[in-house]
Amino acid sequence: MAEIKTIGILTSGGDAPGMNAAIRAVTRSAIFSGLKVKGIYRGYRGLITNEIVDFHTQNVSNIIQMGGTILKTARCKEFQTLEGRKLAYDVMRSHEIDALVVIGGDGSLTGARIFANEFNFPIIGLPGTIDNDLFGTDSTIGYDTALNTIMDCVDKIRDTATSHERLFFIEVMGRDAGFLALNGAIAAGAEAAIIPEISTEVDQLAELIQNGFRKSKNSSIVLVAESPVTGGAMGLAERVKNEYPGYDVRVSILGHLQRGGSPTAVDRILASRMGAAAIDALMDDQRNVMIGIKNDEIVYVPFTRAIKKDKPINRNLLETLRRLSI
Ligand code: F6P
Repeated sequence: MAEIKTIGILTSGGDAPGMNAAIRAVTRSAIFSGLKVKGIYRGYRGLITNEIVDFHTQNVSNIIQMGGTILKTARCKEFQTLEGRKLAYDVMRSHEIDALVVIGGDGSLTGARIFANEFNFPIIGLPGTIDNDLFGTDSTIGYDTALNTIMDCVDKIRDTATSHERLFFIEVMGRDAGFLALNGAIAAGAEAAIIPEISTEVDQLAELIQNGFRKSKNSSIVLVAESPVTGGAMGLAERVKNEYPGYDVRVSILGHLQRGGSPTAVDRILASRMGAAAIDALMDDQRNVMIGIKNDEIVYVPFTRAIKKDKPINRNLLETLRRLSI
């Protein structure tokens, strides 16, 4: 295989806390291994518009604690076309970039897979998304920080929910996955989580109300995953008003504040390990794999597998939540 002398690094899709720690780790590990590093701004768009600069170890100083991404990010429509990707490839080669490290979620790694195959070009992916929806890794960079943010918000909402004896539906992000809602509910001691993974199997709202989830309580908190199949917090509140009058219902949608903030120690360590592993993978002739973590061990997950949208939730957690909410 062609020798790798220069790598490019970019962040793409929704930002996630810990992306900067990953940029730092990739840059410093690459330099440590004698490679040159180019920082590509605004995700795949920066490849097309030629926003590429040399990165040295100082470029990544004092960023490990910062949320967001110093490389900026974008969702690039042009990169979804062959013409766009051809342009990106030509720009990249004009900078003598021999391999790419892409930090992003499902859509970003899908783009990486297509690009790598079309141009027979080495790419390593790092799972950077608060959604935790990539198969083959126990956790994604940003997920732990988002969970902690959700927990803090729910703790605050609980104060007012208890005082007013209300039923609160709190909507959290996650796109089509319920990891944030389910684990956020356990962490915050919520009464229930309504998640897309089981939406087609049971009417989660009816089950919740019929099981008398308020037997011993005057207020309740239900975390709702944002996916359309759950009905969203608004949809569920509407249903309660119509089907189960008598509850004093309120809705809170946490939105983009879940994506911000300084990364937790867990995310900084994960991002640092994964960033270093990306360079090890390239040196090891690995191609077109995402770095994952399984039982505290770094693993390589082929892109095709990582992005299949079939990461299972742990159903035991639903039972735990149910038992603890009596
Ligand atoms: O994938 C991360 C994520 O925050 C999802 O949880 C959410 O559905 C989506 O991005 C929101 O994207 P945008 O910031 O483009 O509105």
